[in-house]
Amino acid sequence: MNILAVESSCDETAVAVVADGRRVLSDEIFSQVALHEIYGGVVPEIAARSHLEVITLLAERALERAGVARRDIDAVACTYAPGLIGAVLVGVNFAKSAALALGVPLIPVHHIRGHIAANYLAYPQLEPPFLCLAISGGNTMLVDVRGYTDMSVLGQTRDDAAGECFDKSARVLGLGYPGGKPIDDLSRQGDDRAYDLPRPSVHGDNPYDMSFSGLKTAVVNLAHHAQQTGQPLDKPGLAASLCRAVSEILLGRTMAAADALGYDHVAVAGGVAANSRIRGDFERACGQTGRQLYVPPLRLCGDNAAMIGAQGYYEFLAGHTADSGLNAYATMAL
Ligand code: KG4
Repeated sequence: MNILAVESSCDETAVAVVADGRRVLSDEIFSQVALHEIYGGVVPEIAARSHLEVITLLAERALERAGVARRDIDAVACTYAPGLIGAVLVGVNFAKSAALALGVPLIPVHHIRGHIAANYLAYPQLEPPFLCLAISGGNTMLVDVRGYTDMSVLGQTRDDAAGECFDKSARVLGLGYPGGKPIDDLSRQGDDRAYDLPRPSVHGDNPYDMSFSGLKTAVVNLAHHAQQTGQPLDKPGLAASLCRAVSEILLGRTMAAADALGYDHVAVAGGVAANSRIRGDFERACGQTGRQLYVPPLRLCGDNAAMIGAQGYYEFLAGHTADSGLNAYATMAL
């Protein structure tokens, strides 16, 4: 089954063709980073307009590179939540029109379910059940993936997402946007014990919930203090200490959940899964506890449409299709 998949929830426009949920025939991505860089973050209106400008071209290119004719597309899948509403709307409306024109089913896909499904593309043998840590720019959650479309959130951030913590910290350190990669790169030259950053605790009875705003504020305060007093700031050391703190918070929650639920298969997904410290720490911890770790290659960590095609296939098998009344949503439970 060939699915034409569309992703437009934030600052990447992406269209892919995926066969049977597992084989990527084409995977086109247009990154808007250059458009937003000057503003230090994503400007929603600019994002929506840019999606509109390139989406048709990308779809044509995705079909051409896949070597698939329009009549051989069996369904159209799209991210319909969560995301920047104007941005998601562009992809949803494009997908609705394409499904209508091709006379095929329309499949709405939750963006985070898509990130989780990136692992199906990278690991053909992976099947639920497994535990998945989904870490992106807007979401951070620990998910019990019982089935392809049967999953529940065990714990999540109470405030900022892990990616937001990296992005805001990078901004105050003058490292640009998006900040995760520059912090990751800089951290490799630094001492991860240079700064004693907090590991914010979370009140309440959910041991898997997390918090990153205190950590972000600590980095911002250190940077402002250095600016105001003229004292030098060890940027590589601060970047390394931040990566260590974020990784320890995520790893602690994930391993505790894997122990409690008895999971031997642990996956990580989302843009922040590209972080080298997090990848290394998870690899080591899973190796030491005899667990199998799944982390997508870097291209499949960030936003892409192939992952939407992968999850779309399983949503279709579960009968989750929509009609042309489908709407876009800024927020949506998993
Ligand atoms: O999954 P994604 O592309 O978009 C969302 O769905 O949000 O994630 C983007 C996030 C940004 O916050 C970005 O700074 C972060 O992923 N990121 C990283 C790395 N590469 C991207 N964070 C830490 N280390 C990286 N190497």
